Amino acid sequence: MSLLTVNDLSVSFVTRNGTTKAVQNISFSVEPKSITAIIGESGSGKSVSCYALLGLIPQPPGRVDSGSAHFEGSDLLALSERELRNVRGSDIAMIFQDPMTCLNPYMRIGEQLTEPLLVHGVADKEAATARAVALLDEVGIRNPESAMNAYPFEFSGGMRQRVMIAMALITEPKLLIADEPTTALDVTIQAQILRLIKSLQEKRDIGVLFISHDLAVVSDIADQIVVMEKGHVVEQGLPTDIFSGAQHPYTQKLLSSRLHLCHVAVGGRGCLALHWPLRHILCSGDELREGNGSRRNLPPCRSCK
Ligand SMILES: Nc1ncnc2c1ncn2[C@@H]1O[C@H](COP(=O)(O)OP(=O)(O)OP(=O)(O)O)[C@@H](O)[C@H]1O
Ligand SMILES: [Mg+2]
Repeated sequence: MSLLTVNDLSVSFVTRNGTTKAVQNISFSVEPKSITAIIGESGSGKSVSCYALLGLIPQPPGRVDSGSAHFEGSDLLALSERELRNVRGSDIAMIFQDPMTCLNPYMRIGEQLTEPLLVHGVADKEAATARAVALLDEVGIRNPESAMNAYPFEFSGGMRQRVMIAMALITEPKLLIADEPTTALDVTIQAQILRLIKSLQEKRDIGVLFISHDLAVVSDIADQIVVMEKGHVVEQGLPTDIFSGAQHPYTQKLLSSRLHLCHVAVGGRGCLALHWPLRHILCSGDELREGNGSRRNLPPCRSCK
């Protein structure tokens, strides 16, 4: 059985300029212990879809017009605000593109990490502190004990993202929703954070709904890909199907734009690691057409070796 099943979800915004149908009749699921990625250009409705599940759409101007979202035996869209708050704080956690939207700049990291455990009475101060230190260590923060006393501004963007992942995981959620968590980071740090999310997902057996506008970013981590365009799901399937046999013109467009970038970027450090499914497609010809039209042979990629 799926961990999360979204059916026929529609969300609109009523503003002075008229009604915008941000999300229209979309359906998708997240399986237990796996990563579903939602991909699409800016404005395609990725964030609105996820915020609607957690009751985070401002109403008005927003409005959930239809749909259901079954998670652990209840329909998230039918829960009261109080019930949803409980789900948000425990079974479903969310991380955002900008960690500062979640981290309080005036509170020490340790206080922020332990707060949900103390507020919900899940652990006493000592146990909560021990759990926070262990989690900071797990997400790759060096000297986790001293990090507990630091303020968010003392960390780099990548470190703050790691802290936010720790915060999201402290209540041991079953589902993690990650809304473009690596978009603001440079390529090397982005790859590290992606690997971290993947390894935590595997280690903790949780389901992840991962949002990105970049198909290549999710290529290495997704078990299922959902492609959105202008509020609609236009295609969904396994990564191998999407990368080798995309049916919808919009998905093909997303793929070809990545291929173009791949051509330009191949040879750059870390590029092949991030782009390997596309690299695999290129491997069928065993040659690469450079941006200037010239060709050169490539060594076989990871999948073809
Ligand atoms: N508060 C709001 N008021 C009015 N319209 C909104 C509001 N929030 C979102 N929308 C509409 O919903 C559409 C989808 O927005 P959403 O934030 O889901 O896009 P997205 O796919 O997450 O884009 P991005 O990659 O830029 O984050 C927007 O184009 C906008 O028209
Ligand atoms: Mg968004």
